[in-house]
Amino acid sequence: LRATMVVDKAFKIAEVDRRIYGSFIEHLGRAVYGGIYEPSHPAADKLGFRNDVKELVKQLNVPIIRYPGGNFVSGYNWEDGVGPVEARPKRLELAWRTVEPNEVGTNEFAGWAKEVGSEVMMAVNLGTRGVDAARNLLEYCNHPGGSYWSDLRRSHGYDEPHKIKTWCLGNEMDGPWQIGQKTPQEYGRLAYETAKAMRLVDPDIELVSCGSSSSSMPSFPEWESVTLDHTYEVADYISLHQYYGNRDNDSANFLARSMDMDHFIRTVIATCDYVKAKKRSKKTMYLSFDEWNVWYHSNDVDAQIEPWGVAPPQLEDVYNFEDALLVGSMLITFLRHADRVKMACMAQLVNVIAPIMTENGGRSWKQTIFYPYMHTSVFGRGVSLQPVVHSPVYDAKDYTDVPYLDSAVVYNEADETLTIFAVNRHLEEALELDCDIRGFEGYRLIEHLVLEHEDLKAVNTADREEVKPHSGGNAACDGGYVKARLAKASWNVIRLG
Ligand code: AHR
Repeated sequence: LRATMVVDKAFKIAEVDRRIYGSFIEHLGRAVYGGIYEPSHPAADKLGFRNDVKELVKQLNVPIIRYPGGNFVSGYNWEDGVGPVEARPKRLELAWRTVEPNEVGTNEFAGWAKEVGSEVMMAVNLGTRGVDAARNLLEYCNHPGGSYWSDLRRSHGYDEPHKIKTWCLGNEMDGPWQIGQKTPQEYGRLAYETAKAMRLVDPDIELVSCGSSSSSMPSFPEWESVTLDHTYEVADYISLHQYYGNRDNDSANFLARSMDMDHFIRTVIATCDYVKAKKRSKKTMYLSFDEWNVWYHSNDVDAQIEPWGVAPPQLEDVYNFEDALLVGSMLITFLRHADRVKMACMAQLVNVIAPIMTENGGRSWKQTIFYPYMHTSVFGRGVSLQPVVHSPVYDAKDYTDVPYLDSAVVYNEADETLTIFAVNRHLEEALELDCDIRGFEGYRLIEHLVLEHEDLKAVNTADREEVKPHSGGNAACDGGYVKARLAKASWNVIRLG
């Protein structure tokens, strides 16, 4: 099995926006309590945040983290989470039917994000609330002082404004499960008016208009078309969300799901450009894929959870090796759309459908999906190049002509490195890759990282890291050509410089 690729500096898609390596922390399950925050843990800092978890997050080099939801935000009163902790109310949290203790709120999270080197992507509640709560929260976060809400922040011990730049106008407002679901007309009007007021408070912010909850929503892409009709000139991005599963255990089909993601992205781009044309606008709408991942392993267990616990284990998918391959392909898909996808958030970061897991009071470890995320985030910065690929293809249940080779290439002009990210989707055979990089004179192989495993269902646990990368790939670079054997069902990072 053989595939060829031509890579050249001239085939430039766009500069990779580092924010495509974003993530997400929602007040859900053990993401916050028992995840990033656990004051009684031996590794907790003086504010109660776990240092071991911080270290793992830093390894991922996460540039931006969405907060505080998700479905949670649509019932959230942000005022509950600021001020003296002892005075904060415990609330019934209706999205996930738990009790929210509000020990962590906006200020604590902003402080934690800064420590791990991330910006905050803040979501406002457009479910149960609206313009007023959103503009007040923005004033509380970003206004320097001398007004009611900014002075309240200062009185809470945060003299400097948080300067949060990126704001989501609600979450999944098309979903029947969402508290305060809206029709596209209702959402479009509310999002527009909220955006208008928020921009009056702080004109420097960037705003994300809420897109469909997934491409399978019956109202997709009409939702995008109608809502953007309202928000096109006030928003900078439209959101996309998508999760995949392998419920019928058809791995060849599962690994092809990134083609569905690619189609989803193309359809949203087309819809944005249609609205642009209709409005005779000069502005281009960008995409924020601010929830994406594999999510299905925990569905049955979650259906059994008793309501009204505090931070019960919810959405705790244990990821296997094939999940890591699809996650790699999803990241490759973002890189190939670097001209329009400017932000993306792996949902989520800790314990809840997450690359990082913890035990309450105990250890923390890396799930399989940690690795493709870390590799792309660390090595995938620079210019995304369009490789010209010839690959054999296969037909799966839902897709035809699926290339066995899935790949993206990033050229980092600053440190003069070239990185090839590649998944071999073939479940039985290795793929011989011949890559022409003659435009990169004098480049040599730095390393060939590989994530592979005999068992597609292998998982990592606190006791055993079964799935982890090695640097023993056989790529070789000679006379402007890279040759590499990509093992069956493998994730590969070929670094040249
Ligand atoms: O990430 C888990 C949930 O998935 C989020 O709360 C919601 O926005 C989506 O449906």
